Amino acid sequence: MRPIPRIAALVAVCSLAVAVHPQLRAQQPGALRQAQGNPERSRGVTLTVAVDRPGVRIDPNFYGLMTEEINFSYDGGLYAELIRNRTFRDDPTQPVHWSVVKEGGDGSIALDKVPVPDTALTTALKLEVPARSAGRVGAANEGYWGIPVKPDTTYRLSFWAKAAAPDQGPLTASIESTDGRTVWAHANVGRIGTRWKKYTATLKTSGTAAPSVTNRLVLSTRTPGTTWFSLVSLFPPTYKDRPNGNRVDIMELLAAMKPRFLRFPGGNYLEGPNYENRFNWKETIGPLEQRPTHLSPWRYRSSDGMGLLEFLEWAEDLGMEPLLAVYAGLHIDNGARILTGDELKPHVQDALDEIEYVTGGTNTTWGARRAKDGHPKPFPLRYVEIGNEDWLNRGTATYDSRFTMFYDAIKAKYPSLRIISTMRTQDRTFTHTRMPDLLDDHFYVTIPTALSQAHLYDTYDRKGTKIFVGEWATNNPRTGDTPMHAFALGDAAWLTGLERNADIVLMNCYAPLFVNVNPGGRQWAVNLIGYDALTSFGSPSYYVQKMFSSNRGDVVLPASFDPLPMLARDDIPVAPAPPPPARPGAPPANPNPGPQGPFDGLYVNATREDGSGDVILKLVNVQAIAQPLRMDLRGVATVRRNAVGEVLADALTAVNTVAEPRAIVPTPFTIADSSASFTHELPGHSVSVIRLKTR
Ligand code: AHR
Repeated sequence: MRPIPRIAALVAVCSLAVAVHPQLRAQQPGALRQAQGNPERSRGVTLTVAVDRPGVRIDPNFYGLMTEEINFSYDGGLYAELIRNRTFRDDPTQPVHWSVVKEGGDGSIALDKVPVPDTALTTALKLEVPARSAGRVGAANEGYWGIPVKPDTTYRLSFWAKAAAPDQGPLTASIESTDGRTVWAHANVGRIGTRWKKYTATLKTSGTAAPSVTNRLVLSTRTPGTTWFSLVSLFPPTYKDRPNGNRVDIMELLAAMKPRFLRFPGGNYLEGPNYENRFNWKETIGPLEQRPTHLSPWRYRSSDGMGLLEFLEWAEDLGMEPLLAVYAGLHIDNGARILTGDELKPHVQDALDEIEYVTGGTNTTWGARRAKDGHPKPFPLRYVEIGNEDWLNRGTATYDSRFTMFYDAIKAKYPSLRIISTMRTQDRTFTHTRMPDLLDDHFYVTIPTALSQAHLYDTYDRKGTKIFVGEWATNNPRTGDTPMHAFALGDAAWLTGLERNADIVLMNCYAPLFVNVNPGGRQWAVNLIGYDALTSFGSPSYYVQKMFSSNRGDVVLPASFDPLPMLARDDIPVAPAPPPPARPGAPPANPNPGPQGPFDGLYVNATREDGSGDVILKLVNVQAIAQPLRMDLRGVATVRRNAVGEVLADALTAVNTVAEPRAIVPTPFTIADSSASFTHELPGHSVSVIRLKTR
């Protein structure tokens, strides 16, 4: 965190601290005396943009996504599988998320250690229906907080099964309400034989089925006997109709952000809670029945339905470049086991194999394997990150040697790949024996820190190692599933600083990306996109990213406010803190952590788009009051009338939810009299993007 330069004297008006930026004060002695307490609006400010002095270029891949299995991001999230605990390994003691259905009959379900031969399926669900039973008996899956039903929708069911006696059944599959009273769709699956076999069926809802989540999948029979099930899977329609694919609504939200890269598979998920549960990519490819599943560091079991190839296809479907993080010997275990030297060597080879799986031709071992898995065409790859947050979990002392092993092996085979170190710019005493191409900075910050860090990289050594800001969010105090508008203001201010410093910051991505908002779905407070089984929504911070990423621009233009209103700590946006946990004897939490100010009241980044010639202004007003601006575009022959823009403005606590997914969204506007010099007012607590046509 950058210390805030002290201002010699704050200009106090009406006992409220409002100051002028020191540089501007030098240029404009006594120019600014703003009353922050003015309930109407602030005095005018001029924004000067030097269109004829293009500065640094912004990497086309500047905006991307960071992802991992956290908060039910894939299982119960993006990955469209609807059956929870489909391979019965979530809990070794009981078939969690499954229940027995008995309607006029009798029967039971239980876990049984009966493997399916030649697969990774070790455990089955045994359904026993005694001879005396006469009614309907079955096994029901509750899904990830329900099974979403929509009208006119076809669901693809598959499962492995075998029976104790020949021709057991017939078996019926149904999607029905949790109380069993309404059957939305059903299919007769036929009779089950005594050898393990994969069965498939489709189930279609009618055009009148009301959208709902309080539903279950039931596999049932009216015939006494014993049946074993494994890998029970149910898919709704997926994005681009990919088998084993992704949820359409969430992919559409992501597509609207126009992300250019996907950092995966983590985050902590790459490292795993221990060696056995690292992201072992070789166990995440191929048919689903060959994937053993593993425990995520976020304390639930991952189905690994979102495996390496699915990550790559997700990237491909949205036109994103993969940014691959490879396992580097560290785990989320406080350093209990760190692999180095000879012990790490096989994992360096794993990384090379992984890169070959991603990029290799079908004449290579792992490229051929990718083709066998269904994707002959290689994927693009330019960046590989070695590990994740190796400054944690006692990883620092061994990171240089671990990084060097990966660096040497990867550069020898793939000299054009750019290697990212997980050491941060603030780890100044860390020495790399091999110079990384980029450092990965991570920031989870309060609003005051986000505002002050809008200037973090202004003073970074221009000859220093380039930066990938691989995780960031204004999320503190940690409250809520998704950010409130106050956090989005911090995010937007921070992003103006990242764009302005695009000569050294090449790429950035917010984290975490997803949260399932159901009780128990969240391990991390404040995430970009929320959902339940039926509905998804973008947060105010999502809309900031969407606005900025769709209006990136290619080259930064010098832009400055005159005068720049300054705010005291008491005047910046505040996110209400959740009540502190009751811990008898604990010292009271600091109610006012982080930088104390003064803070800029306005933030800007101006860019120009090569193709269209448009000048794009990104403007953030963190003042409570509206801010009239005189726009002064220098060095441009033409600025057309009717410029268009979008503004995100609302109460600081405004959020979107499943119940109100679009409570706060950007509003489009037109500026009829736009020209090289025009006025425009920024609402209080707002983020605006304006596009000015110069051709
Ligand atoms: O984004 C959540 C977690 O924060 C990531 O898994 C980890 O890299 C960071 O500590």
